[in-house]
Formats: sequence, C-alpha cells, structure tokens
Amino acid sequence: MATKALSRELPTSPPESKQPARSVVPLQIDHPKAAAVANRQAMAVVDLGGQYCHLIARRLREIGVWPVIFPSSVHRNVLAGFGGVILSGGPQSVYDKASPSIDGVLSLPVPVLGVCYGHQLLAHELGAQVQPGSEEYGISQLDISDADILFEGTAPHQTVWMSHADVVFSVPETATVLAKTERCEVAAFADHRHKLYGVQFHPEVSHTEFGKQILENFAIKICGLQRDHDKTDRIGHLIEQIKFQAGKRSVFFLVSGGVDSTVAFTLCARALPPKQLLGVYVDTGLMRKGETDELRASLEHFGVGARLKIRDESTRFLRELEGCIDPEQKRRIIGRVFLDVQSQAMREYDIDEDHWLLGQGTIYPDTIESGGRTGSAALIKTHHNRCDEVRELLDAGLVIEPLAEFYKDEVRKIGEDLGLASAITKRWPFPGPGLAIRCLCTDADVRGHWPKLVELPTEFSGYQALSIPLRSVGVQGDGRTYRDIVALQGKLDYPTLQRISSYLCNVGKVHNRVIFRLSGERDFSHFEVLPNKSLTEERLSLLRDADFIARKEMTARELTDSVWQFPVVLIPLSAGNGETIVLRPVNSEDGMTANFARLNADVLADIAGQIQSLAGVDAVFLDISDKPPATIEWE
Ligand code: XMP
Repeated sequence: MATKALSRELPTSPPESKQPARSVVPLQIDHPKAAAVANRQAMAVVDLGGQYCHLIARRLREIGVWPVIFPSSVHRNVLAGFGGVILSGGPQSVYDKASPSIDGVLSLPVPVLGVCYGHQLLAHELGAQVQPGSEEYGISQLDISDADILFEGTAPHQTVWMSHADVVFSVPETATVLAKTERCEVAAFADHRHKLYGVQFHPEVSHTEFGKQILENFAIKICGLQRDHDKTDRIGHLIEQIKFQAGKRSVFFLVSGGVDSTVAFTLCARALPPKQLLGVYVDTGLMRKGETDELRASLEHFGVGARLKIRDESTRFLRELEGCIDPEQKRRIIGRVFLDVQSQAMREYDIDEDHWLLGQGTIYPDTIESGGRTGSAALIKTHHNRCDEVRELLDAGLVIEPLAEFYKDEVRKIGEDLGLASAITKRWPFPGPGLAIRCLCTDADVRGHWPKLVELPTEFSGYQALSIPLRSVGVQGDGRTYRDIVALQGKLDYPTLQRISSYLCNVGKVHNRVIFRLSGERDFSHFEVLPNKSLTEERLSLLRDADFIARKEMTARELTDSVWQFPVVLIPLSAGNGETIVLRPVNSEDGMTANFARLNADVLADIAGQIQSLAGVDAVFLDISDKPPATIEWE
C-alpha cells in the first residue's frame, strides 16, 4: 500500500543542488524517485486544491527549506517521514461529501500547519465547529492575542490576505486561539499537545505582511528544519533541461511578445541550434495599438528576429470569435485557433510533423488558474495555453514549457539574467487572449435586469452605490465566481474606498468587483446594461484607443514601473450615448494576489478626461477591487 502510494505521489523540484542532472520535469506527481525524497529535513505540502498551494512551496524554497508537494490522497505514513507538514487551502467545505481529508492527520509525529481549508480541516478533526460564516476576501487586519512561536518577530496588529467563506466557530478543546480578525474569531490557533497549528489567512501570498516570517517560524523554529536549499545556476539548469527534453526534435514556439514567451523563447534559442527552433508571433487582431511593430523592432534589436516569423491572422481570429460572448468560450476558441495556425504554419515552413515539440511560455499561475495539475483545484479561467487541444499534446509529451514552475517576478529575473532589455522584462503582463477578454460582451438576456441602488452603512455617507447586472470573473475562497459589479461615486479617498470595496464584496454573495466613477455621467439612474454586445472591430478599436491613452500618459509621466499591470477594459454599461471604460491599475508581486493601485488623482483625472473625449465613451471608472475577491483581468 505504502509503495503504491509512493510511486504515485511526488513532488516539487528538489533543491537544484540535489536535482538529478537530467531531470526533465521537476514538479511532477508520478516521479519514480518519490521514496528517495521523503526526508526529515524536507517539508511535505499537501495540495488540498488551493490556488496558492504551489506558492507555499515557493516561499519555503525562498526560506531555504526543501518542499515536496503531495496530492490529498497521500498516505499518512508518507507524511510521517518528513520534518513537518503543511496542509494547503482548497475550494471545498469540510462538510462536502467529497472534500479532501487525511486519515490519521492528528496522530502524525511531526508538526502540522493548516492553511485556510487546511486550518478548517484540522479544527474539524479536533472536534471544533466549522460553518459558513462571515466571508472575507482580500485584505484583513489580524490581531494577535498570543504570539506563541508561530507569530514570533511579527507585529501585534498585522495585515493578512484572506479568501474564505467557512469559518472555525469554536476553539478545539485542546487548542488556544492565537489571533482573530473583525470577521473571524479563530483566525489562528495552536494545539501543542498534537503539534498542530492553523491559520485562516494565507501566509504564502505576498500581500500578507509577515507571511514569510510565519512560515519560517513554523519550518525552522517549530519543525526544526535546516536551511539547505540552494539556488545556483538557474539558467544553466534550465538550458540543460531544454536540451534534454528536445533531444533531436525541433521546437515550434508560439511567441506573444509578452515577458513569459519571450524569456522562454530566448532560453530555447540559447539551448538549441538555429535549425531546431522556429518562433512564430501571431497577430491575432486582439493586440494593443502599435504592439506588433514594437515587438518586431525589439526582437530584431535583440538578435532573435531571424528565428521568428510574424503572421497576420487577425481576420481568422475575429471570424471565429464572431457572436461569442462567454469568456470561457472565447478563451477556448482562441486556444484552438492558435493551434490551427500552428499546424498550418508548420506545413508552410516545412517542419517535420513527426519530430517536433510545441514551445510555450506557460508560467505556474496559468496552470493553477486553469484547474491545476491534479484536477483538485478549481477552474478560474482556461488560459489559452491550457485549452483541451494543448492538454492532449501535453499528455502526449509534445509540449516544452521551460518556465512552467515559475511566477511572473521570477520569470522577469530570469529574463534580466539572460540580458533581455528592461523594456521586455518590465512590460506589464498582457494575456494571450488579448483584448478579446477585456471587451465584455452581453446577449439579449440582460434585458429587464436593471441596475439597483445599494444601501451603504452610515459610516459611508456621501457615497452612492449602484449594483450593475453585468458579471465578471472573480476568485473567492479558492473558487471561481462570476458575479455582478457595483458602481460607486463620491470622494476619491483611497482608505475609505478600500473599506467600501471590501464591505461590498464580503456581504451578500452578490458582488466580486467594485468600480469608482472618475468621469462622465453623474446620474446613476441613467445607466443601463446594453444587450447583444459582441466582439466587433468597432468596439475593439474604441478599447484600443482608450488603452493607448492610458499607456501613453503613464509612460510620459514615467509611471509605468509604479504599477504592476494596467488593464483597460470596455464594458457595455451605457448612459445613453455609448459605453464605459474601466481602468484597472494593480500592484502585485506574482499576479496571484493583487491590490488596486492608488494612482495620483491628477493622473487619473487626466487619463479619464482624455478617454472621456473619445466618441462612444459615456463614463470612465476605476476598478477598486483587490484579488481576491476579483481577478486582475476582467472577463
Ligand atoms: P487574473 O486575471 O487571473 O490574471 O488575476 C493573473 C495574471 O495572468 C494574466 N493572464 C493571462 N496570461 N494568458 C496569459 O498569458 C491568459 O490567458 C491569461 N489570463 C490572465 C493576467 O493578465 C494577470 O497578469
């Protein structure tokens, strides 16, 4: 039984220094050497389906500890061989029939830390009450009542990031409450008798102020692990992996001009001889103004232009997307058309179809948001590089993705180490499906659904809120939500806007996003959602112009580095003469969590004023939602 479990379960990458020289895929569940990695000096991380499980492993590596990820089917005896265990978050409730659990977790001989769902699971196993309660998404203030070892070196009041609907209601009998938030009485507990710890918040996300310190306290002080993870020669290691995986096969690379695919393509260019690598940039017609020309210039400047072909496939993409309004369907169509283009291009460029691999710049967040590797995570959105057709190629071993284990900030660093220009490495991320997803569409069903005023608590007097029956994707409690938005107007006072935004998304299970009026129509009773708005060249062109203004103004003021990403979105919200543009500047480290950026009021007024003057724009709003509850992109 144990042998079977071991052969099915494994791992994140062992530390580079311990990695077998010719290992191809460092993070894989079916690794044959599973038994060899069970190690008292390593931390087992159990994937209970959370969005941030892999991020726990990343933070441990940063601390210097070797993490190994296991699926929830892992046997307790396997976990018992590690120095400590961390249970990740997950989208389910401990009372769901098929919710994951680990038999015998309470009797493990090593310390266990439960995070979010993991925290609820431990409390439930200890006999405490877990129930649907006050939801919390995004920022929360944690008050520590007992620092214990877990919170050593952190502040008594600290900012944490939450994403949960269930809460632990009563303290397990053998446990002590360590911390609470306004909406969660048992935000952290310790049960010394069983060596168990639970935190409702996510210490692994970069927005949790002392998250890394808390994980370090657990790993080093509580579990007694030593730091022995050493990151050396990451690029050399990646190049070796590419050479090994490609062998004599050619790599056909779809390059978008974004950071990820450019860095991955450049790594392949370093690893493979010219005749074994061909890059194709596809102009989908969904790009931003001037983007194709900029890309051509920068790649030629960098010297990889000769290995890259540019194809204009805009007519084809727009034709295939005609009439499509559902964001997931848009993504699937785009993913499929990319592969059609690839097949056609391979025939035209005379590539041997029996001896090739598809190269992609996939990074880890693309995988987890598309449902993860083991299928235990929720589908937030299908990234174009994870559509069904690509999954089939992946299963057949025909895809090479050198950056699949990394996050955006790590990819930027690899790009810098490769010597890529900062104009490329510091580019704001831009999604593969491009403006298609930033242009929200509707069908006839929205008719008869009218915006409604939302009553705000008296502490927010002076603000007016309007619930708009227009849905967009969010991520709440590690699951996908597709909920209405709230439009808000009043004074541009960021601390108050943050509180109203959290309030509106935490109550009622109706909203996951809040936008604030910057310019245009003041009378909220004039707003309506337009039916039957699809992806047309006219709407895309309006969005392109608005996006161009925002980029131009941010560049002119040398503010591009002051935000992590700045999507501009077109939504079919009308005050009679046109539609609405939403500005979405965010701050983030890795795209997994984000908070809305606090741009200077003058800058916003200037950008909004210019966009407002475009024909067809009724109003300009600023997105004031964090991730969670919203996602960075709108769709
Ligand atoms: P969300 O919207 O999920 O986005 O908060 C997180 C980051 O991922 C980018 N993104 C994509 N990148 N293909 C990509 O290459 C995609 O399909 C895609 N969808 C979202 C998004 O821009 C943000 O930086």
